[in-house]
Amino acid sequence: MLYIGVDLGTSAVKLLLMNSDGKIEKIVSREYPLYFPHPAWSEQNPEDWYQESIEGIRELTADCDKSQVAGISFGGQMHGLVTLDENDEVIRPAILWNDGRSTKETDYLNREVGTEKLSDYTANIAFTGFTAPKILWMRENEPEKFARIQKIMLPKDYLAYRLSGTFCSDYSDASGMLLMDVEHKRWSEEMMQICGITREQLPDLYESYEVVGTLKPQIAENLGLSENVKIIAGAGDNAAAAVGTGTVGEGHCNISLGTSGTIFISSRNFRVDSHNALHSFAHADGGYHLMGCMLSAASCNKWWMEEILKTSDFAGEQEGIRRLGENHVFYLPYLMGERSPHNDPQARATFTGMTMDTTREEMTQAVLEGVIFALRDSLEVAKSLGITIERTKICGGGAKSPLWKKMVANILNLKVDVLENEEGPALGGAILAAVGCGEYPDVQTAAAHLVHIRETVEPEPELVAKYEKQYGKFREIYPALKPVFQKISE
Ligand code: XUL
Repeated sequence: MLYIGVDLGTSAVKLLLMNSDGKIEKIVSREYPLYFPHPAWSEQNPEDWYQESIEGIRELTADCDKSQVAGISFGGQMHGLVTLDENDEVIRPAILWNDGRSTKETDYLNREVGTEKLSDYTANIAFTGFTAPKILWMRENEPEKFARIQKIMLPKDYLAYRLSGTFCSDYSDASGMLLMDVEHKRWSEEMMQICGITREQLPDLYESYEVVGTLKPQIAENLGLSENVKIIAGAGDNAAAAVGTGTVGEGHCNISLGTSGTIFISSRNFRVDSHNALHSFAHADGGYHLMGCMLSAASCNKWWMEEILKTSDFAGEQEGIRRLGENHVFYLPYLMGERSPHNDPQARATFTGMTMDTTREEMTQAVLEGVIFALRDSLEVAKSLGITIERTKICGGGAKSPLWKKMVANILNLKVDVLENEEGPALGGAILAAVGCGEYPDVQTAAAHLVHIRETVEPEPELVAKYEKQYGKFREIYPALKPVFQKISE
C-alpha cells in the first residue's frame, strides 16, 4: 500500500509518498505566500494551503498505482487560528504561530488570569503565538467577525476538514491552543469560558494515528484516488517530525531547524516544569513531550542569505567558515521576537562585536552560531529539570548543512544522529497514516521499522570547551539589551 504524509509548513507544503516497506517513492513541495500586513503580524490564506495541497497530491501520485493509496495524514504548523462561519467560509486570514499581535491579550492571560491557573487548566502559560490569545484579540478587535465564528481549527485540521468533512483535531496540535487540558486530553471548560467560546465551536479530539474519515467522493474522483482513502488525524509539525525521526517513547530528543527551531523531548508520562519555560504538550505516539521553540531558526539564515547578502548559494557562503569557536561576532536571532525561553515578543535580532576587519564569513558564522546558542537556552532549561540528554536526532531544512550540524554537536555537546531522511514532519505524517491504516500496531513499532540513522556527528572536546566560553558571552547579550528592545518597540 501507499501512504501520503503532508507537511503543512509556513513557507511551503511538502508531500511525501511512502510504501509499506518505508521506501520513499516521491517528495514534492509547493510554496504559498506568507503575509506580514503590519509589523509583527503573520498571516496566510487557508485556501492557498488547500489548493497547493490538492495540486501537490496530484503531482505526488501522478506516476504511481493510485489504487494503492490507502491513507493520508499530516504534520502541520501549530497554533494558527483558522475561523469558519456558518457557510464554512474562512472568516479572516489565518493568524500564524509566529504572529506577535496579541501581546495585550497574552499579558491579560498571564497576569490577570495568572500563570498558575493557566498552568493548572492547560499545563502551559500564554505566549503570543498560541491560539487562545489570538481568539481574545479577535473578540476585542474584530467583534463582528468574532460573532460569526462557528468553527475554530488549526491549519492542518482545515485540510482534514476540506478533505473528509470531519471537524477534528489531534491531542498534540490541540495542546498548543491553550484551550486543552493536556494532562487529561480534553478541552478545558475554564479556558473556553475565558475566551468566550463554546464546546460546539471546537473540534472533536483524536490520537494522531486515529482515522477521522475518508476522502470526500468528489475529491477522490478529481484526484483519481479511491473513495476509501482514509484520513488520519495527524499531528502538530513538531510531534510529526519527532515520529519521522523516531523520537518516540521515553526520553528521546529531536532538534528541528526549520523556519522555527525546536528542541523536543519525548516522554511516556505527563510532566510540566514549574516555570512553564518549556511547553508541555501531548505527543503523537500517545504519550507526552516537553518542547522549547524559537521563532526564527533556519529563517535567520534564509533572511541573511536572501534579503541581505542577496545570494541563493547557502552552501557556498558556508565554505569559507573555518575558525569555529573563535568568532568575535555574535548574533541574536530574534527576528520575530522570541518564545522559548524568554517569552518576549519585543526582542529583536542584532549583530554585535564587529570590528573593521570583520569578514562576511564571520557574519554568516555568527548567524548560524546564534541560532544554536539560542536553542541551547532551552536545552539549559531542560537540564535544570534534571533531564539528561546525551544525543539528539535532527531534521528540517537547516539539517542539510554539515557545518550547522557540527555546531549543534559542539555548542550543545550532544551526539547528533543524522537520519537517512531529513523530511521529519512529512515522513511522520506518512508513518501516522500507515499506523492508522493498520500497517503497524502502533507508532513506536512503525518508527522502529521505518526510521534509520545514517551517521552520527560526535562532539569534539576541544571545540566543546571553546563553545562553552562563547555561549557564556552570548548569554549576557539579551539581558543587557532587553530594556533597549522595549524602548525600540514603543
Ligand atoms: C511550535 C511552533 C512552531 C510551528 C512551526 O510551538 O510554534 O514550531 O509549529 O511550524
